[in-house]
Amino acid sequence: MSFPENFLWGGATAANQYEGGYLSGGKGLSTLDAITGGDKDTPRMITFKTKEGEVSQVKANQSLPEGALGYIDSEQYYPSHVATDFYHHYKEDIALFAEMGFKCFRFSMSWARICPQGTEEVNEEGLQFYENIIDECLKYGIEPVVTINHFDIPMYLADEYDGWSNRKVIDYFVFFCETIFNRYKDKVKYWMTFNEINFLRSWTQIGIHSSEPQSKYQAAHHLFVASAKAVELGHSINPNFQIGMMVAYIPSYPMTSKPEDVFAAIEYNRQHEFYMDVQVKGYYPAHQLKKFEREGITIAKEAGDDELIAKGTVDFIGFSYYMSTASTVNLENVKYIGGNQVPAVKNPYLTESEWGWAVDPLGLRISLVQIYERYHIPLFVVENGFGAVDEVTENGEIIDDYRIDYFSKHIQCMKDAIELDGVDLIGYTPWGCIDIVSAGTGEMKKRYGFIHVDMDDQGNGTLKRTKKKSFDWYKEVIATNGEQL
Ligand code: BG6
Repeated sequence: MSFPENFLWGGATAANQYEGGYLSGGKGLSTLDAITGGDKDTPRMITFKTKEGEVSQVKANQSLPEGALGYIDSEQYYPSHVATDFYHHYKEDIALFAEMGFKCFRFSMSWARICPQGTEEVNEEGLQFYENIIDECLKYGIEPVVTINHFDIPMYLADEYDGWSNRKVIDYFVFFCETIFNRYKDKVKYWMTFNEINFLRSWTQIGIHSSEPQSKYQAAHHLFVASAKAVELGHSINPNFQIGMMVAYIPSYPMTSKPEDVFAAIEYNRQHEFYMDVQVKGYYPAHQLKKFEREGITIAKEAGDDELIAKGTVDFIGFSYYMSTASTVNLENVKYIGGNQVPAVKNPYLTESEWGWAVDPLGLRISLVQIYERYHIPLFVVENGFGAVDEVTENGEIIDDYRIDYFSKHIQCMKDAIELDGVDLIGYTPWGCIDIVSAGTGEMKKRYGFIHVDMDDQGNGTLKRTKKKSFDWYKEVIATNGEQL
């Protein structure tokens, strides 16, 4: 058997894309609550009020004017408000996950549900909501895997503090961690601090008004310090905690054997390695310090930050893998295609999803090998999947053979990485195991789940859950511990 006996098969979601109940049970507003829906061709927008009181919008990855406040405009549609309503369906959904045989379930906790303003005021109803979810999982023997922060921040911290650009937010985050660590210390073992930390760069995700590199890297420093403090604190609360980092891993291949292309790929890959180096090795890599020097970026650090970062290294690396890309210096011949958060270069050897994400199963084995051989700590594939339009047949069935094909090839590559390369892989949680809102486009049409949810891009639908063909297929994969693909 190639997968270890206790391998964590499961699925993954995030609060802002799944929960809904955006004002229920005492929850405060999150930045994501002010981000509109969109589609492949229409970007998601931030709605805000300027200092002068004017309502306006910018693209979700852009800068906001100084002093702008997040704003909910009743004329607009915001997918996070209902999403696919895990808030009211969690028992039904977890029962379906249990039916598939999940060994674990990865979800995130909305900071604003627990600390409505992100400060030190705690909302017991929010804490209880997550305790209910955890208890429901444990009832079926499903191990909860908690992402502490997945792509959002309480709006109050964005409005009043300029989000993670302000050092004070570190203390608030650590308070939030302390609250949940203490509350769930006997029920949750696996934690991850920040989802896709290498993609955190704008108001939407971290509440900062400017998305200039200087602001982005200063905020990243605060995220590193906060994560390191959380790791230390978590271990002191329960030494059995396994606390990981989480990175979006998009390996880039040299487009040709031209040495300049090889170097271009090295430079591309450094963008995610930087975040892993800091959180796993405990220091800023030399190439990043040189880049800061070249680009005139100065990171304001306090005495003791470097020591904190060195001490608070993580126990495992969680990463998302959807696609690979290619690097070249011959930019005139390059075709840019869609991609996860950042545009990717078309690799002529690969096909893409409808959203332009390259399908590359071997890229997952390549990623596992590259990461493991660089860091030598356990790995957890916490996101992987195929976003596609699913058709519901007249009989109400969803025959998603393309998804089964995608997963079986990727799982085979994980198997090879364990069996042939000796990678220490502890688990696999396919993304959006039940249909949820797309983070990139805000659509429902781009679906990832084994379970279909009746909801459309305008927020219309019965929210009825239906098993897709891939449901029974994945159930069999788990039942045979990955032997039958
Ligand atoms: C990852 C995120 O980048 O990719 C998820 O962690 C996201 O939140 C997933 O949903 C898939 O991206 P998208 O844009 O298809 O939802």
